[in-house]
Amino acid sequence: MSSQPKLSLLFTKDEIQATVKKLAAEIRRDYLGKQPILIGVLKGSFMFLADLIRFLDFPLEVEFIRLSSYGRGRESAGKIKVVQGLQSKVKGRHVLVVEDIVDTGLTSAFVLDYLGKKKPASLKVCALTDKPSRRQTPVNIDYHGLTVPDKFIVGYGLDWDERFRNLPDIYVVENEG
Ligand code: PRP
Repeated sequence: MSSQPKLSLLFTKDEIQATVKKLAAEIRRDYLGKQPILIGVLKGSFMFLADLIRFLDFPLEVEFIRLSSYGRGRESAGKIKVVQGLQSKVKGRHVLVVEDIVDTGLTSAFVLDYLGKKKPASLKVCALTDKPSRRQTPVNIDYHGLTVPDKFIVGYGLDWDERFRNLPDIYVVENEG
């Protein structure tokens, strides 16, 4: 059986929704009329992306990319590769990468490099949460949601060994063990 970590509330679903709405307003201002492609990085971004696009009332497309990395476990520091690529061509398109969290920055840096080689018209990053204390490589977050402390967080798409993605609020795992 899995252990039961203690969770403490960090952001309520209302705080999250207010942040999603704020980010959507910024994205709308910049992308209206550009038919952007929003690319969610699986799995963590699925809930955020689903909520975000409900606030975007103009033509856009949705894509997902799935990565794998070796030697990560609960930490993220491994070698990254693409395990599920894109169905759409991004050359000449306005592309917005949607992340649930930027932690070390390695994932976003990889995705930006990978997509940048496909020559999009523009390439930006939207991140619901940001843990700057853990950064190993610089990442410019164009649409920035919530700054989080150097703690393991779960909920709203974020997991702890695949658990807790379904929680509507975001919590800190207090006793990771
Ligand atoms: C998480 C998260 C980001 C990445 C950020 O994904 O969804 O994609 O880590 O970490 P980084 O900035 O240190 O690279 P994870 O690899 O845990 O996979 P998941 O989304 O499937 O949970």
